[in-house]
Amino acid sequence: MLTLRHKEDSFKIAVPHSLHHIVSQETLGPVTAEEARLLEYLDFSRLPRHIAVIMDGNGRWAQKRHLPRVAGHRSGTQSARTTIETCARLHIEALTLYAFSVENWRRPKTEIEFLMQLLREYIRKEMPLLQKNNIRLRFLGRIDELPDAVQKDTREAAEATAKNTGMVLSIALNYGGRAEIVDAMNAILAARAAQTQTNGHGHGSSPVTEEQLAQHLYTADLPDPDLLIRTSGEMRVSNFLLWQIAYAEIFVTETLWPDFNRARLLEALLDFQKRERRYGAIAAPPASAAR
Ligand code: FPP
Repeated sequence: MLTLRHKEDSFKIAVPHSLHHIVSQETLGPVTAEEARLLEYLDFSRLPRHIAVIMDGNGRWAQKRHLPRVAGHRSGTQSARTTIETCARLHIEALTLYAFSVENWRRPKTEIEFLMQLLREYIRKEMPLLQKNNIRLRFLGRIDELPDAVQKDTREAAEATAKNTGMVLSIALNYGGRAEIVDAMNAILAARAAQTQTNGHGHGSSPVTEEQLAQHLYTADLPDPDLLIRTSGEMRVSNFLLWQIAYAEIFVTETLWPDFNRARLLEALLDFQKRERRYGAIAAPPASAAR
């Protein structure tokens, strides 16, 4: 039995002994009564390995409060922080956040500039949190097309956390799922051309395999996401990790991103644990039917 402390009360949560190293009073820190209630049902041995998040609804959150859209983005950074820290403490292997898509360049110039500035500020401010939680930070997307200052900050932040050994946090920036697949194919073609030039024979026109393509994606060394979370109720995947989410469980919540707190994340995890994952196979038959 281990105790998770709320400010006033404490809650007893049954956790198998073997998992005490994963979840302890310190792992999640103080929890609210609502979080403690949700944690009671969470199976810590069946958490997703990789969670991907489409952080949507910042604009609507701001609009509802008669604030400028950018206030929603600023408030959204707090949800990003909570999600990152909670996932790291739950020992999730990988978390990928969709911060800016290749389509987002269609937004007003002032909003794009604000988002880039916010991101730079965020990277700088969150560095201690990332180091404290042993998080490796990476950026996915056509980073070379971003403003020089943003490229420099992303490069430095990735380098500063490269030696960490905990969760891999990927921030998708100037990211598009189709663009990623095209980039992977072009990388394969370039590697083949280089090989032919060096030794006179390469793979020529031999077919590209799924494994080869996956190895050239931005996420090459990560497991595919098991869980894709989308906030603000839209039933779309919006060109996010198209290849990698082939078998992901999709969780869509009406909650707008700035309102997505730790309790909402725990609900997504609980929903994930209710799903039966078959990967195209059929459900295991009951023992009696197998005879
Ligand atoms: C979608 O909301 C959100 C974005 C395009 C930007 C996401 C960025 C952040 C949450 C802040 C920075 C994040 C990190 C990781 C530093 P929307 O503007 O499309 O909302 P709407 O659909 O209600 O208009």
